[in-house]
Amino acid sequence: MSPFDLSGTVALVTGATGGIGRATVKALRDAGSTVIASDIAAEATIDAAAEYHRLDVTDEAAWTTLIADIAARHGRLDALVNNAGISVTNSIAETSLAEWRKCQAVNVEGVFLGTKAAAELLRRSGADRKGGASIVNLSSVGGLKGSAYMAAYCTSKGAVRLFTKSAAAEYAMLGWPIRVNSVHPGGIDTSMMDTIYARYVEAGLFADEQTARATVSAGHAIGRMGEPDEIAAGIVYLCSPGASFMTGSELVIDGGMTAR
Ligand SMILES: NC(=O)c1ccc[n+]([C@@H]2O[C@H](COP(=O)([O-])OP(=O)(O)OC[C@H]3O[C@@H](n4cnc5c(N)ncnc54)[C@H](O)[C@@H]3O)[C@@H](O)[C@H]2O)c1
Repeated sequence: MSPFDLSGTVALVTGATGGIGRATVKALRDAGSTVIASDIAAEATIDAAAEYHRLDVTDEAAWTTLIADIAARHGRLDALVNNAGISVTNSIAETSLAEWRKCQAVNVEGVFLGTKAAAELLRRSGADRKGGASIVNLSSVGGLKGSAYMAAYCTSKGAVRLFTKSAAAEYAMLGWPIRVNSVHPGGIDTSMMDTIYARYVEAGLFADEQTARATVSAGHAIGRMGEPDEIAAGIVYLCSPGASFMTGSELVIDGGMTAR
């Protein structure tokens, strides 16, 4: 059997109506997993065969309810992909405290709450499977290096990076079969990047969105933006038995952006 086969597993993906989330739902399903897709949107068509649940990742009670529902109906959870996220593109001077806090709430507290809510079910499910259960947290190259006009976002993604390592160390110390890793995409063609280009132009950093996109593209050694399925492939790997010796790691998928 392929070490990347996910047959018989159950996975939960947050932010699943967005670019990377949608690609992740499909990639996990293609690898054999039953996928529960969730997003803050009330209703969504993801994939005819994937279940969909509304989940605001900042709502602790909603996490408890959804995990209890998954336990009751599926009896297990093998992978949690904490993918939901928002960007803030603004100077430090013009970032409001509310905007700052919302960014930390969705990007950091959402990951904490999801991990906390799902850990017990993941622990039970991971015990009967090679490689155990897996939590994959979406950080960013912005969690590895700073970026002008992205202070709130980079701060949040840096926190996701170290929360990931702390959770990995804790579960390993406790002997819980849960691996925890972060993924660090470069610029990926999704609606988040479209919003960022528009904000760069509004802030006067670029003349137009085309120039902003061309400049961001050129920041990758490969010379182009990434596609959502190029990130989803790495997420499938981290959820699979093939990654059984990976925990507390940073999987950088950035077209060489941080290589030079
Ligand atoms: N696109 C990129 O270039 C890029 C690069 C590095 C990291 N990332 C990260 O990858 C993840 C996915 O980003 P994307 O590019 O697909 O963005 P996207 O905007 O296409 O999707 C993000 C999704 O998160 C959902 N969401 C927002 N707030 C939520 C909340 N409170 N609860 C639940 N869902 C919520 C949105 O509805 C949306 O569907 C994010 O964490 C992002 O920071 C993206």
